[in-house]
Amino acid sequence: MHVTRMLTHPFIRLFKPTDLEAVKALTLQSFEGVTLEQNVEGALGVLNSQDWRWRKSRHIDHDVASNPGGLFVAEQEGRIVGYITTELDRDAGKGRIPNLAVASDFRGRGLGRKLIERALDYFRGEGLAYAMIETMDQNTIGQHLYPACGFVEVARQIHFALRL
Ligand SMILES: CC(C)(COP(=O)(O)OP(=O)(O)OC[C@H]1O[C@@H](n2cnc3c(N)ncnc32)[C@H](O)[C@@H]1OP(=O)(O)O)[C@@H](O)C(=O)NCCC(=O)NCCS
Repeated sequence: MHVTRMLTHPFIRLFKPTDLEAVKALTLQSFEGVTLEQNVEGALGVLNSQDWRWRKSRHIDHDVASNPGGLFVAEQEGRIVGYITTELDRDAGKGRIPNLAVASDFRGRGLGRKLIERALDYFRGEGLAYAMIETMDQNTIGQHLYPACGFVEVARQIHFALRL
């Protein structure tokens, strides 16, 4: 009998604590070239004996600690191939997306957009009034994707750093 393997798509589900290491690994694989932490290291060198990867990895610890119920992962056959993190400011009615990544071999198939839509649905379900996301000037994909998801550009910021 000829058996064909079913082609499956990643499904998006709520983060579990056992996903943490995979989410961090995906973060470090994904953010090379598009994170402020690496720009700082590029300008000033390694700081306090910690490289940009150490600092970027801590962002995920922070996101998990601050809002674990608003962190979603995309899973494909047991592998975490994408994630999105969120934070809520209920008093302001604001939801923010601090971190988002899709594995390089899964990019360009709409998964980033699906993760954003999942976060926006979550914000709406929480009764929030608006959402914000930011991207680096060098991140051409972010600058394309966020307006495509309905975000409007409201400001540009310049970051400065000084070695002490
Ligand atoms: C940003 C990221 C999550 C997008 O994931 P993805 O699954 O590829 O996203 P999608 O497929 O939904 O959409 C990507 C869009 O960018 C477009 N795109 C791809 N490469 C591009 C480029 N070099 N310049 C401009 N747009 C580009 C795609 O065509 C697609 O747009 P379309 O749907 O209008 O065709 C993924 O690229 C990633 O993990 N990047 C590294 C980490 C990162 O930058 N995170 C966000 C920090 S702000």
